[in-house]
Amino acid sequence: MPGPKKAEALRQRKSSSIPISSLTAYDYPTARLLDEAGIDLILVGDSLGMVVLGFPDTTHVNMEHMLHHAAATARGATKALVVADLPIDSYSTPKQALANARRLTAVGAEAVKLEGGVRQADKVRAILDDGIPVLGHLGMLPQRVLEEGGYNKKGKSEDEIESLHEGALALQDAGCFAIVLESVIPAVATSLTEALDIPTIGIGCGDHTCDGEIAVLTDVIGSYPWFVPPFATQRANVATDISTAVKGYIDAVQRSA
Ligand code: KIV
Repeated sequence: MPGPKKAEALRQRKSSSIPISSLTAYDYPTARLLDEAGIDLILVGDSLGMVVLGFPDTTHVNMEHMLHHAAATARGATKALVVADLPIDSYSTPKQALANARRLTAVGAEAVKLEGGVRQADKVRAILDDGIPVLGHLGMLPQRVLEEGGYNKKGKSEDEIESLHEGALALQDAGCFAIVLESVIPAVATSLTEALDIPTIGIGCGDHTCDGEIAVLTDVIGSYPWFVPPFATQRANVATDISTAVKGYIDAVQRSA
């Protein structure tokens, strides 16, 4: 199914009883495993800067990084919608946003995600006018972590709640097929979910507050043990499995001398 049709099918899940499942992936084998397991949406997130490239945050990620990983990920997925993040400073104007969204789709991404609300509506429209579906992202915006001084919960003050609602409606009006809500306090995430006609996809927003969930894969499989957000649910311990396998290999090599 072509990307815009997949995005439309996910938009229509708003009224479905089956929540949208989404995870990040950054390479071919992982994308293939997620796709074969039946995930709805694969995000080539700029979180790759931290969990794959070893940077302290996502502000170091650029278009070259995203293109390299989006291409590999897209080769591994056939059924899930593959969304790639537009990295920091790659969508400062509608023209730049469109040019970079086209570069990401040229290597296989089927949709793009960008961070921010009202100020991004014109970029969303420019990208959508070209037929490329756009996923919004509101709440804690990792690309602004340096200005904000940390990964803070959003929706605590009246001003924040108002700006989240304005941003969500602006993204919906501009044509986003869904919006990621990150670290929004549960009551506010629920009110946003209720106010919108498009699905919300939550991370760190509590249980049953959104129309779907997204997680960074390394948090779920336990392959990046050095930083795990407090809201993450770990379902495997790949870091320990790798250490055990590598120690066994070293032992075997050394014993064969
Ligand atoms: O980059 C990423 O992985 C993300 C998710 C946290 C939603 O944006």
